[in-house]
Amino acid sequence: MKKIRKAVLPVAGFGTRVLPATKTIPKEMLPIVDRPALQYVVDEARAAGIEHFVFVTGRNKGAIEDYFDRAYELEYSLRQKGKTEIYEALDADTPEAGTMSFVRQQSALGLGHAIWCARDVIGDDPFAILLPDVLVKAKKSCLAQMVDAYYQVGGNIIAVDQVPHERVSNYGVIAPKGRQDGKRLIEMSAMVEKPAIADAPSNLKITGRYILQPEIMDILKTQAAGAGGEIQLTDAMAALMAKQSFHAYEYEGEDYDCGSKYGYFEAVVAYAMDHPEIGEEARNLLLSRCQNIGK
Ligand code: G1P
Repeated sequence: MKKIRKAVLPVAGFGTRVLPATKTIPKEMLPIVDRPALQYVVDEARAAGIEHFVFVTGRNKGAIEDYFDRAYELEYSLRQKGKTEIYEALDADTPEAGTMSFVRQQSALGLGHAIWCARDVIGDDPFAILLPDVLVKAKKSCLAQMVDAYYQVGGNIIAVDQVPHERVSNYGVIAPKGRQDGKRLIEMSAMVEKPAIADAPSNLKITGRYILQPEIMDILKTQAAGAGGEIQLTDAMAALMAKQSFHAYEYEGEDYDCGSKYGYFEAVVAYAMDHPEIGEEARNLLLSRCQNIGK
């Protein structure tokens, strides 16, 4: 079975739900305490063995490319001033040269189209997709959990999680068939993008982490627009499911939708509470604020 070495991260979206913060800053660069949201996603992918990152970018996203580059003046100045720890932390986050590719999605035609823009870099290899709007806070990287499952069953794997039924219309939703090992791997009979509440086949939403076979690109090439008038990855996956094995994986962890105001706020609180430097203070602050609510 081929190793999952490459990951596609679509980062072309405008971030309209968190304007005006995203007017000049890509939403993926908004800080969760002291690290950009995107860095957490890259960390998750690295922990799963990803060696090459393909960013699908758009206009006004230059800050992302610069972020993964070296900052010579800054690094020099930190070293001169003896701020070794800060320098070393920055250095550890800097990717090895040649391990990041940037392709451009010239028109906002949907997630499926964004993924298709990466086809030449992906080639004939199975690959991962991580939607950087979604942070998954977990003991073991969510994608690493999925890679383990992939080595058991192969094919295609998508991360799912339960949501309250009234929120299913915001997501791709799967129709489960049964479970292997009585555990987290779920067989599926269908999937549908943003169904009406009454039509949703379950309350298992697709979370934004995928391991897919390269044949998805052939389907995406001619995939017609679906929900919201956009070329949907879910529709292409549903077509691929007729030909290849597909499993859903109910991961262990909490997900946060950082593309929304409330999800972003939740993520900042959750990551601050566990932060090695400010975690204790953050927990104490929240505790005292909660005691004062309503007084
Ligand atoms: C995308 C996918 C959807 C998935 C969601 C997860 O939708 O199309 O299937 O459930 O991400 O966040 P979007 O949020 O881009 O509309």
